[in-house]
Amino acid sequence: MTDTVTTMGRSIVQHGPLNNRAYLMSPHPEDVPWIVEKLYKLASTKGYSKILARIPASMERIFLEARYVREAVVPGYLISGEALLFVSRFLRKARGRENYPDRVAQNFALIEKHTRHHHVRRSDFSAIRLCKKNDRVEMAQLFRQVFASYPFPVDDPDYLTHTMASHTRYYCTTENGRIVGVCASEMDTDNLAVEMTDFAVVPEMRGRGLAAYLLAEMERDMCSRGMRTAFTIARTLSPGMNLIFKQMNYSWGGTLVNNTHISGGIESMWVWHKRLKK
Ligand SMILES: CC(C)(COP(=O)(O)OP(=O)(O)OC[C@H]1O[C@@H](n2cnc3c(N)ncnc32)[C@H](O)[C@@H]1OP(=O)(O)O)[C@@H](O)C(=O)NCCC(=O)NCCS
Repeated sequence: MTDTVTTMGRSIVQHGPLNNRAYLMSPHPEDVPWIVEKLYKLASTKGYSKILARIPASMERIFLEARYVREAVVPGYLISGEALLFVSRFLRKARGRENYPDRVAQNFALIEKHTRHHHVRRSDFSAIRLCKKNDRVEMAQLFRQVFASYPFPVDDPDYLTHTMASHTRYYCTTENGRIVGVCASEMDTDNLAVEMTDFAVVPEMRGRGLAAYLLAEMERDMCSRGMRTAFTIARTLSPGMNLIFKQMNYSWGGTLVNNTHISGGIESMWVWHKRLKK
């Protein structure tokens, strides 16, 4: 089960019972402000407990007036230099209260005190390569093995083919011909910004720095393609993934509370960002 991606006017919205939320992924300026009311109607009719919107900072006032709160920021995301904001409206009180307060606080403390720059042990692994269409079945199997649930259908080979053909570059590393680690860069070419996402390493290869290696190579590729800003939305319950972003000089951008159905339940997510190019 995954949520549906649809259009509202000229804006893109994902919604459904898995994440139990409506998510305005890409608002078209002509659709604001009427879309704010429309999102609320959709969420209340379907019984969703959260509405999340990814908006330019200049739209923030309209959303705050409609009882949204600012959860995270990616400075300088837009080509104009404006920040990208994640703002949310919680339709039930419980959705706005952290599901795992102790674990999240513990991981935050761990990440806060960790400052060492990451040493990427490149020589331990085979070279990273771009995934191709004929990798899609093996990639989907890996995602299915690693994630009990995911907000987008990465375990569907057709979804991978579709995203590969549009705006996403997937990277992998192999051992004895088998894919053992994957990640993806979802490019927003209008804004020269990129989401570093979909990190998955098979259990037997973990603890050797493979995800950091994948991230370093992906950053190199994104820089060479002229991307200016990188960001990510990482699980608060995955200390390893967040430590990697911290160690690779990403800055913390905020918390999306009880946001995403991933690895079997709804988790809060941390936003991280980094300037790749001035
Ligand atoms: C997240 C994931 C990709 C990381 O894989 P990896 O490259 O093997 O990461 P590592 O185990 O080397 O961990 C990275 C760093 O965090 C540290 N770390 C991991 N868990 C830790 C913990 N509980 N406490 C302290 N440090 C921890 C590691 O020591 C390592 O630091 P180092 O390089 O300085 O030694 C992998 O665990 C995975 O596939 N998980 C399931 C999918 C997932 O949750 N993806 C992330 C979605 S946001």
